[in-house]
Amino acid sequence: MSPGAVTPAAPAGSSGPLVASTAPVVSSGPPARDSVSPGRGGGGPGRAPSLLDVGTEHDPHAFYRTLRTRFPLVYDERSDAWLISRYADVRGALADPRLVVPPSGRTLVHREGGTHSAHRALVSPAFRGAALAALTAGVERTAYVLARRIAAREEADLVAEFCHWLPTAAVVGALGLPYEDTARVHAWCRSGLDHLGGHHPELEVFLRPYIARRRAHPGADLLSALCTARTDGRRLSDEAVAGLAGTLLGAGGETTARALGSFLANLLDHPGQLAVIRTRPTLTQGAWAESLRRDPPLHIVERRALAPVGVIPEGATVACLLGSAGRDPARFADPDRYDAFRADPGDLAYGSGRHFCPGPLLAALTAEHGLHALMSVAPALRWVPGFRPVPEGPVSPSPRALRVLLH
Ligand code: HEM
Repeated sequence: MSPGAVTPAAPAGSSGPLVASTAPVVSSGPPARDSVSPGRGGGGPGRAPSLLDVGTEHDPHAFYRTLRTRFPLVYDERSDAWLISRYADVRGALADPRLVVPPSGRTLVHREGGTHSAHRALVSPAFRGAALAALTAGVERTAYVLARRIAAREEADLVAEFCHWLPTAAVVGALGLPYEDTARVHAWCRSGLDHLGGHHPELEVFLRPYIARRRAHPGADLLSALCTARTDGRRLSDEAVAGLAGTLLGAGGETTARALGSFLANLLDHPGQLAVIRTRPTLTQGAWAESLRRDPPLHIVERRALAPVGVIPEGATVACLLGSAGRDPARFADPDRYDAFRADPGDLAYGSGRHFCPGPLLAALTAEHGLHALMSVAPALRWVPGFRPVPEGPVSPSPRALRVLLH
């Protein structure tokens, strides 16, 4: 997918301003002189709103609008982070080598430099080419099994009964773990594994015998690849293998599950568009990308400044607001609208630069097979009358439930 307009990254070592915006770059400390009300989710007139303001969690978009228009780069005292909200600036920040992932964890995404490249090189091949093709059959089969389980019913909740299972099963398959263990793994994913945290004590205990077996008898799966790989001439420790597996389960499982929930909600809200996609499945990928633009499952990615970057001091935390960037009117026409046929929805929901997500193809095929499986058993899929999806989740809202009629 074409990423569209890009702000060139500031060169390493440059101390020029990070945000090349025309709007004033201000701090939320002293009040700004103009007194346009920040609106819902905002602070007082002229004062920059905070990420932690009441209401922002459930509807961050009013807050993002205020930031984009009036405070494109701002220090948010309450969250102790510099907020970046415009599309071009978010891309620029993610490409800037002076802004690194905070070393708050031990997983792939928390690493930089040579170790990061080495660990990335280990997992990336599993998500392209022949390995990805091999995964496709498993994802497709699981999607149909899940869809058939609810097919005879009149009503279902697609979040609880479909979205939360399919992506975890896809990564369980990629790792070569038994599909029957998906339920246990899924429970761990829901209690502690997220896109950035790959260590979960129970998961590690569960994985230990599989790691021992794969070290002795490697197969063609991703867990075997991790067990047999060498970085700097040495094998990865059991803990590192379990950490990478946990990252993949957290990243691929929960994140894709939430994205799938938003995708189905967007289509169910636009039955005309859903009907077109049902008859022309090749349009599914565009519809999925558009949902990720409008409702990404990760609204924030965090960075730490290694050196001063414009007004951002060394050591400061920077929050790159993906959820805001995807709705920047300077990049996307009518950005709040869901348009499954939008020509260029971009791919910023997967990040940018050296930490760009390695899983877009797996996520996209999970969405594609998921939707097709549901359509095959329930071509008249629609909301339960009167039902409206309620978003849940701190700063990355996705529907808590999707109550649908199947026939
Ligand atoms: C809709 C689904 C997904 C979305 C929106 C998404 C989004 C992202 C984003 C924004 C990042 C960058 C984080 C940063 O820069 O700090 C990232 C990194 C990552 N994602 Fe995903 N992701 C998705 C699915 C997946 C899947 C299916 C996998 C694998 C099974 C995966 C594995 C990873 C890993 C390992 C990283 C760390 C990469 C690195 O640090 O080099 N993600 N993802």
